[in-house]
Amino acid sequence: MKIAIGCDHVGFALKGRVIEHLLEKGYEVEDFGTNSTERTDYPIYGKAVAKAVAGGECEKGIVICGTGVGISLAANKVKGIRAVVCSEPYSALLSRQHNDTNVLAFGARVVGEDLALMIVDAWLSGVYEGGRHARRVQMLADIENEQ
Ligand code: RB5
Repeated sequence: MKIAIGCDHVGFALKGRVIEHLLEKGYEVEDFGTNSTERTDYPIYGKAVAKAVAGGECEKGIVICGTGVGISLAANKVKGIRAVVCSEPYSALLSRQHNDTNVLAFGARVVGEDLALMIVDAWLSGVYEGGRHARRVQMLADIENEQ
């Protein structure tokens, strides 16, 4: 599975650790930046990762900023994206099983490295259950299509 990853300057160090972890686990990774701690703007990277996922270039995306909030908001502006910001593994797992999230966000100022990796693992292990959830996920797409 190919995973798109991106961050702003606050998430840069944690992104490096997440990439290492993903490669160790056998995932392919495409890094959309940023590539340093020089101050930049989270919408650039949220959008780039989201476009790669929505366009099918990558199957899932992971985005990191200070809180995970700004970069998840940016990702969620791209049609077809269901981005979740998580600070614990339970919501990450359930967001896959029930909401079919395709982008995971977290905050480098919120979670430490070990917790971030637990969140990533929980999220990647989750399989969308469909069934009763499918109608609700479709309702999310319907909202997008009304715009
Ligand atoms: C940057 O200072 C900070 O605003 C950003 O990383 C993020 O937390 C925004 O949601």
